[in-house]
Amino acid sequence: MNKVATKVNDIFIENFSSTPHLYYSPGRINFIGEHIDYNDGFVMPAAINKGIYYAIAINNTDDINFYSVDFNEKLTVNIKDVKKMTGWKNYVLSVVNEFLLLNKHVAGFDCVFGGDIADGAGISSSAAVEGGLAFGINELINFGLDRKELALLCQRAEHNFPGVMCGIMDQYANMFGKKDNVILLDCKTIEHQYFPLKLEGYEIVLINTKVHHSLASSEYNIRRKECEKGLEILKKEKGIASFREIKNADELLPLKDKMGDKVYDRCKYVVEEIIRTQQAAKLLKEDNITEFGKLMFATHEGLSKLYEVSCKELDFLVEKARENNGVIGSRMMGGGFGGCTINIVKKESVQDFLAVATVAYQKEFQIDAEVIEVKIGDGTNELDSGKL
Ligand code: GLA
Repeated sequence: MNKVATKVNDIFIENFSSTPHLYYSPGRINFIGEHIDYNDGFVMPAAINKGIYYAIAINNTDDINFYSVDFNEKLTVNIKDVKKMTGWKNYVLSVVNEFLLLNKHVAGFDCVFGGDIADGAGISSSAAVEGGLAFGINELINFGLDRKELALLCQRAEHNFPGVMCGIMDQYANMFGKKDNVILLDCKTIEHQYFPLKLEGYEIVLINTKVHHSLASSEYNIRRKECEKGLEILKKEKGIASFREIKNADELLPLKDKMGDKVYDRCKYVVEEIIRTQQAAKLLKEDNITEFGKLMFATHEGLSKLYEVSCKELDFLVEKARENNGVIGSRMMGGGFGGCTINIVKKESVQDFLAVATVAYQKEFQIDAEVIEVKIGDGTNELDSGKL
């Protein structure tokens, strides 16, 4: 069993002297389809083998006791007093609040959690925090919600107390992840297909810039509003219901003046990324990694120049990837303004690429970039505590 799981379990027993149930809830990567989950596009995420571990037990009181191992902080809240707070507290309390909003009678419980996933790295530690708790509460109190309902509950939880108007990608990947498989999620119908990731001869490498610019959540919500504004204009002028009905970004050009430059650029990116993701899914299924990688570079270009959610640190790492012939594709991943790049690299070039890129990065920004090794894993689940 994972070391973090054992630690979380031990801390639980020290603090609460009962036997908890254990849950694992993963972070995610996303191959392509960035910032289009809230624009009715397609995304291609996968759950990873790093995430958050929970130990939870019902305590027969009206209090909920949390202990965050990573922050070394505790919190006790009466069920009747669940309200918005700050930091990690907002994420867990918002999940409880969503159950209460569904008129579910949440019983008091004790809960210890901690993880092996970096906060702010763009691999969605927040969805992992939400998903593990929601899954645990649902199981322990027998609320009977299915995985899709839990993913949607967690998305609402992120909207509510933390105030980040995220799409469904992270919470969905967290619930539906499948070992060695990519999820192709249609964010309009919220239906998915799996396909096995073959990637023979290549590795997925994440490089964490170790920066997380504070703009991230405010700019995220602004992008969402800009896209809504653009879509309103498109609905009025072209009678369409969704960005995906536009098959060529040139169709937007006549509306540039009406939209204004920023909104036009955002919409152009969205239309292009929806098309790219559909092409990419086809290429990945055909195992055409070279062409797939070119689309990743194109996505980065769009995110940086049109959608403006990159930053100089991410752009620098993608530039280093471009300069290395062994790197097939590279781009920023997740919400942006820091976090990781995702790179597909020929096996024999991995060492060289990482060495060159991290040394150059240190020289440019005086920051030690972190290489994060990930494998594609399963979604949120209960762990067998007998195996600790
Ligand atoms: C964050 C959000 C997701 C998605 C990505 C960008 O991770 O939580 O819903 O919008 O950014 O693709």
